[in-house]
Amino acid sequence: MKTEGGSREAKRRAGERAAEEIDDGDVVGLGTGSTAAHAIRAIGRAVDDGLTVRGIPTSFQSRQLALEVGIPLSCLDAVDGIDIAIDGADQIADDPDASGFGALVKGGGGAQTREKLVDSAADRFVVVADPSKLSETLEQSVPLEVLPDAHALVADEIRRIGGEPTLRDATHKDGPVVTDNGNLLLDCAFGEIDAPDELATRLSSVPGVVEHGLFVGMADAAYVGTDEGVEMRE
Ligand code: 5RP
Repeated sequence: MKTEGGSREAKRRAGERAAEEIDDGDVVGLGTGSTAAHAIRAIGRAVDDGLTVRGIPTSFQSRQLALEVGIPLSCLDAVDGIDIAIDGADQIADDPDASGFGALVKGGGGAQTREKLVDSAADRFVVVADPSKLSETLEQSVPLEVLPDAHALVADEIRRIGGEPTLRDATHKDGPVVTDNGNLLLDCAFGEIDAPDELATRLSSVPGVVEHGLFVGMADAAYVGTDEGVEMRE
């Protein structure tokens, strides 16, 4: 289970504000992590008040919380599409000189494979975060979900392309050691990531990598909660 870093209030504001975007009848992608959990709880309260939605969870963790708060669930092959996905991020590229925000690093909770599936299938993908996630340059380790048999080979390849891989084990502060899909996680440090799109393409091409945590050009908006309010970025 991922721990709750950053300000709880800031995360709550971001999650609750994003949940207000949901319309009656929507199919909603339910993200993973402590910020997305605030959105899930808010959706649960809205369902209690009569909102009709179907949720598509991005992890076992979000599925359990959605069940707990009474959100009716569905799955990807039972819906025509996803209207909106609300999900957290570990880092958001936010260069003040660029127009809008940039790529995301996700997967702190080890759920990036299903998150990418659901978030990319959504008509609108909204990120929820606190200000500690904003960074001029991405420098956070990129989590890779890897087939267990492939972890040593993938780690060698990551070193060859200039990264420093660490196999996630029980000493890791966040997330599971084994993914919901029964695979392992390599957290890969690359220093400052100047070209996330190029790195994303490179990582996707490594045999044995199921999915990586770089989300490039996917998000439509970000709600960044603060202790005073919420800022929306597009
Ligand atoms: C899980 C994720 C989370 O969205 C990310 O780790 C952010 O979590 P939090 O809101 O708890 O900081 O990508 O795989």
